[in-house]
Amino acid sequence: MSKDFLADEDPVKLQEFEDRIERGEKIEPVDWMPKLYRKQLIRMIEQHAHSEIIGSLPEGTWITRAPGFKRKLALMAKVQDEVGHAQLLYSAAETLGKSREQMIVDLINGKSKYSNIFNYPAYTWADSCFISWLVDAGAIVNQVANSRGSYGPYCRALERICVEEAFHLKYGHHCVIHMATGTDIQKKMMQEAINRWWKPMLMFFGPPDKISAHTETLMKWKVKMLSNDDTRQQFLGMYVPKIWELDLTIPDEKLRKNDDGKWEYTEPDWEEFKRVINGDGPCNAERLAVRRTAEERGRWVREALNRPKATYVTPLA
Ligand code: COA
Repeated sequence: MSKDFLADEDPVKLQEFEDRIERGEKIEPVDWMPKLYRKQLIRMIEQHAHSEIIGSLPEGTWITRAPGFKRKLALMAKVQDEVGHAQLLYSAAETLGKSREQMIVDLINGKSKYSNIFNYPAYTWADSCFISWLVDAGAIVNQVANSRGSYGPYCRALERICVEEAFHLKYGHHCVIHMATGTDIQKKMMQEAINRWWKPMLMFFGPPDKISAHTETLMKWKVKMLSNDDTRQQFLGMYVPKIWELDLTIPDEKLRKNDDGKWEYTEPDWEEFKRVINGDGPCNAERLAVRRTAEERGRWVREALNRPKATYVTPLA
């Protein structure tokens, strides 16, 4: 696939570009890059930015219902961070030439993808605890690795995001410990949340490597530093013991660590994954409707700030 896309690139420049990546140098917005690298980065960073924005919705609905003032404060700060992450990521994607307005239009029209996991409902407080701990844990595994990648603006955004995510993780872990060691009702609520979210969580890391469309190209150019399966394995290794430690169970009888250190698990339903990422999950319509409303309600602010004579400046980092 990548060979066809690279056919019209200058072979000398392409070689220099690949040598720089091989040496571990960062590629910056003003540097030469193959069209495919630019296209792949826009796709991935844009999807990531949308995931942060949409990801704030299931947790955001719990701010007013979080148990107690301290939890409300912490959750509100966390949700604000997530929206801030989206801003950093939109800026990083803009350095590659796609405008923020176009990215938002593509999101609300259903053209762009965003993470599968945020298309599931957060019925109870325990669902919000699951997201804060384990979804953020999954995100950290992926993003710590990719922050060592090749594209400067994305790596710098990820470094900052990971610091904040590490705090979310501690907050989420604290919430889950509280539920798991609380009353029988709290423990049951937490267990039911794990049962609901486990399969979407496994899907969160992307399809298995053997059917992943982009992994090979992205790893070659050090945009992705771990494959989907490696990230999933790393997450299982770090968090399954912590879940078991809390006397909670995971709804997969096959789940075990084999002698070779690899985790064995029941594959989630990849057909369901395809449906969800293509717009047909339990909450896709609701999530996009919320974003559309936000866009419409904010239009007067954007129009009031709009100065037609000002020239648009693409951010450099
Ligand atoms: N949710 C939604 N879509 C997903 C997905 C997920 N969890 N995992 C994979 N996909 C999509 C891909 O975007 C791609 O679709 P496209 O070709 O229409 O763009 C398709 O499934 C094939 O997957 P794959 O080839 O494995 O995609 P990838 O190499 O881009 O890897 C990620 C997928 C999520 C691992 C990668 O994009 C990534 O690391 N993104 C940055 C982190 C991020 O977005 N996190 C989200 C939550 S914080």
